This record gives sequence, C-alpha cells and structure tokens, in this order.
Amino acid sequence: MAEEMTKKRMLSGIKPSGDLTLGSYLGAVKNWAELAEDYECFYFMADLHAITVRQNPADLRRRTLEQLAQYIACGLDPEKNTLFIQSHVRQHAELGWVLNCYAMFGELSRMTQFKDKSAKNADNINGGLFTYPSLMAADILLYQPDLVPVGDDQKQHVELCHTIARRFNGIYGDVFKLPEPFVPKVGARIMSLTNPTAKMSKSENEDTGRVLLMDSPDTIMRQFKRAITDSDTENCVHFDRENKPGVSNLMTIYAACTGKSFDEIQAEFAGKGYGVFKPAVGEAVVETLRPIREEATRLMKDKAYLESVYRDGAEKAGFVAEKTLRKVYKKVGFVPR
Ligand code: TYM
Repeated sequence: MAEEMTKKRMLSGIKPSGDLTLGSYLGAVKNWAELAEDYECFYFMADLHAITVRQNPADLRRRTLEQLAQYIACGLDPEKNTLFIQSHVRQHAELGWVLNCYAMFGELSRMTQFKDKSAKNADNINGGLFTYPSLMAADILLYQPDLVPVGDDQKQHVELCHTIARRFNGIYGDVFKLPEPFVPKVGARIMSLTNPTAKMSKSENEDTGRVLLMDSPDTIMRQFKRAITDSDTENCVHFDRENKPGVSNLMTIYAACTGKSFDEIQAEFAGKGYGVFKPAVGEAVVETLRPIREEATRLMKDKAYLESVYRDGAEKAGFVAEKTLRKVYKKVGFVPR
C-alpha cells in the first residue's frame, strides 16, 4: 500500500472507433504494458470521443469490449491497472464541459486532428469534433497523472491540455498537475503499408495498408508482402525516412517487434533486398500479435469476467475523478450539493 502511494501515475486511452491496429499497439499499448510496473496506471476505452464521428451502435459496443479484452491480452493486468469505459465515469463529461470554458476558439481551431477530421467528414463537422481536446484534457486532468503515453499524433492534444491546465491554475491556484506526454522513441508514428506518407489508421479499410491486432497470420503476411517499398534502384534495407519512407516504416515496425536497432537490421538484411525483408517483417508481426490475438479471443468469450473488470475499473476511476471534480466545482464557484 505504501508503495502504491508513492508510485507515479500514468493515464491513457484509445477511441473504439475502429478495430485496434498495429499502429495503436506499437505507438501506445505496447509501451503502456512496459511502463505498467513502475506506475499506478489508468487506461480507458474513449467511447465518448468515438461518437464525434458517426458510429454504428452495435459495432461501437462490440469494439469497446473487444478493446478491453485486447488491453488485458497485451499485458495490462486488471489487478494492477485500472481499466474502464470512459462513459461509465460521468466526471469526464462534467469536467469536459468546464474545461470547454477555458479552451480558446483559436486554440481548438489550430488542432491538426480537427482540421484533418473536418476534411474527411465534411458533412458532419459537429461541435464535439471541435471541442474534442477539452474532453481529452478532462480525461487527463481528472487523474492528476505524471505521464501520458501517446503516439506522435496525440502530442498536440496533450500540449493543449497543458495550456488549459496552466490557464486554470493561473486563475484558481494549483488545482491540476501539469501532464507530460510520453512519446516512444520507436513506433510513435507507424505509417500505412500501402501509403507510407499517411498514418496507419484504424478507420481505414484493408486496402489502405493497415494491419489489425486481430488479423489472421495469413492476412498479415499478405499485407506485408504487398507493402509498398520505395522506387529507388538500390533494393537495399537502409533507414532514410525522407527518401525511403516505405522501407523506413517497415524497419520501424521490425525494430519495435524484435527490439533490434536500425544498424542491426541493416546488417541482418545486407545484400538480401526487399523480397526477403518484407516477409521477415510480416513474420515478426505475426509472432508478436499471435499471443495477443489468442488471449483476446479467449477473453471475449468470458463476458462476465470483462464486465467485472470494467465495473471495478469505473468504481476506482470514479473515486479518483470525483476528488478532482469536487475541487474544480468549488474553485469555479458552484454551490455544493
Ligand atoms: P487514438 O484512438 O486515435 O489512438 C490511440 C493511441 O494510439 C496511437 N496511435 C498510433 N501510434 C503510432 N502509429 C500510429 N499509426 C498510430 N495510430 C494511433 C495514438 O497516438 C494514441 O496514443 N484522442 C485519443 C484518445 C484519447 C486519449 C485521452 C489519449 C482520449 N482521451 C487521454 C490519452 C489521454 C485518440 O484519438 O487516440
């Protein structure tokens, strides 16, 4: 218990807006599991965030549970980590509203993700999509974490969270701990296998070069065999993100799955060419994902267990979140209930 009290805190989440990809695994969950021993951890399925883009309700429900099963299968032990569904902890929506009033229009307008998503969903540029970062700030600040592990694309949101927290603290005193993003050195930005200048995204279909955590070994091998390599004449496995984005992306994936350095990978495939390299990356991914897929499939059959995990998680998370929310309500001048 004494150890628990002194442990630093960490928090992160993923939107169940699509099936988890190799990108979200290497950029996020894999690192969460590695940091889990040293931190008191809170991880959630960001279903409130998911509905900023239209969702099929049955798919959203299935994916939320599947995501929980995948978190556990990736090594997040529910005994040691607090795993919960965002919408079960009402404090997220409540603090999200308050923080909306401390996030500036200009700041929200500058968010890269808002610009990208508005371009992709021109017929549904809703208020939630715009104020998404205030809700994300609430997700984070409720738990007063020391560290927020995210992939590269979410760094801007964590930085805005920092700005909002500083602004709020500037008015009301030290209410929020200022969070730091933690972006992994390898794997922070996994690109599409067929378009290595675009991020591998969970909302894309198979043809856009994404690999899912639950894909079969055959599907994974097919995806890697048809991965785009670069049109240089070298046919040489060498890291150069600028001029060889396809090969560099495959090297990043291989490095993240095997723990090898880029120099070691270059030496391993010296003189062998892309034809040998691509299936080798595929095999490394198959072996990395195999135990996760098998364990997640097993857990998905045990709905009662999953329910006990998310109920427990919501209770623990709600307890911590309520403490912060009460403090905020008092500071802004709400009459206590
Ligand atoms: P989301 O659901 O888009 O992605 C979840 C996590 O996976 C990382 N990621 C990637 N990393 C490397 N390469 C990729 N291709 C790749 N794709 C995704 C993301 O950076 C992220 O860390 N807004 C967040 C969810 C969220 C959240 C939070 C995160 C809501 N509240 C509070 C942290 C703290 C999101 O949409 O992530």
